[in-house]
Amino acid sequence: MKILGIETSCDETAVAIVDGKNILSSVVASQNDIHAKFGGIVPELASRRHAEVISILLKQAVLEASTPLTDIFGIAVTKSPGLIGALLVGLSAAKAIAYSLGIPLIGVNHLEGHINAAALSAKELPYPHIGLIVSGGHTSLYLVEGFGKYKLLGATRDDAAGEAFDKVARLLELGYPGGPIIDKLAAIGNPKAVKFKKPRFRDMSEFDFSFSGIKTAVMLHYKKLTEGNRRVQEKTIADIAASFQRSVVEALIDRIVAATKKYSCKNVVVSGGVAANNGLREALNNSKNVRQLDVFVPPADLCTDNAAMIAYVGGRRLQMGEKDSFDLNAVAVEEIGL
Ligand code: KG4
Ligand code: ZN
Repeated sequence: MKILGIETSCDETAVAIVDGKNILSSVVASQNDIHAKFGGIVPELASRRHAEVISILLKQAVLEASTPLTDIFGIAVTKSPGLIGALLVGLSAAKAIAYSLGIPLIGVNHLEGHINAAALSAKELPYPHIGLIVSGGHTSLYLVEGFGKYKLLGATRDDAAGEAFDKVARLLELGYPGGPIIDKLAAIGNPKAVKFKKPRFRDMSEFDFSFSGIKTAVMLHYKKLTEGNRRVQEKTIADIAASFQRSVVEALIDRIVAATKKYSCKNVVVSGGVAANNGLREALNNSKNVRQLDVFVPPADLCTDNAAMIAYVGGRRLQMGEKDSFDLNAVAVEEIGL
C-alpha cells in the first residue's frame, strides 16, 4: 500500500513515498540558507519557500520511487502542530493531489510522526516503551503503549532542547541551525570544563524539562569571558559547547531513566532533530550497557523532519479505516497523548 507523505510544518519541505515500512523515496529541501542570516526561522519566508519548491520535490519523490502516481493508495500530510502558513502549503498540495487522483487524504500530527519514526528503521518497535521527542519545537516524554496510544509524562516548561541549542549557538556567534554546529564543536571540547546548572522549578513534575536556565548560564559565562571586548579562543568556545551539550544530554537521560524506573519499562525510543546529536546518541548507547535499556534511535535523516514518518503514520491510520475530508484544516498547536 503505497502512501505519499508531505511535510511542511516548519523549515523543511519534504515528500516521501513509503510502502508499509519500506521507504521508496524520501526527499527533503532545507531552508537553512534563507533563515541563517536572521538567526532563526522567519515564518513568512518559510511558507513562500515551501510554495516554491513543493512541486519540484513531489516530482523528485515520484521519480526516485519509480512509482507512477496512479499506484499511490493515499496522501498523508502534516496537519499540526507547526507554522500555520507553512502547514497550509503542504495541506493545499495534498488536497489537490488526493482530489485529482480520487484517493483518500489523511492528516497527521507531526509529533505522532516523530514518535513513530523509529518504526521505519527497527524490525519491530517494542511496546510499551518510553518515547522521547526532542526537537526544535518540542521536548516531550511519553509512555507509548501501542500505535496511537500515547500518554504524555512530561514536557519542557520553557525552551525545547533544539531551541536551546540554536539560541546558545546564536549567542556564541556560531551560526544557524545551532544543533549540528554545537555538536561538531563539542567533539573537540571538554564537557567538564564548565558546570552549567540544570534548574528545576518547585512545581515541575519529575518528567518535565527546563532548558532556558542553562541557556542563560551560558550567556552569563560568555559575557564575563568577553568583557572589555576580550577575544575568546576557539578551544574555550568548544569547551563551552561541550559543557552545554553535556548539561542538556544529562537532563534528557535523567528523565528517561526516571521514567523507565517508574513504569518498569526497559524500552526507550528517541526521535526528533536533537536525537541526531552525537553526545546524546553516545549517552543513550552507554545506557544500554550501564542500565540494560533497549534503546532505539532512528538514523539521523529519520530523526530530523522528513515526510517518510508522516507517510508511515498516515498509512497506518488509513489502514485503520480513518480518513479526512477536504475540509481538513491546519492547527498551529496540538499536543498528543494528553
Ligand atoms: O525535528 P526537527 O528537524 O524539527 C522540529 O520539528 O523542530 O528538529 C530541528 C532541531 C533544531 O533545533 C536543530 O538545531 C536540532 O534539531 N538539531 C540538533 C542536531 N541536528 C539538528 N541538535 C543537536 N545536535 C544535532 N546534531
Ligand atoms: Zn520535527
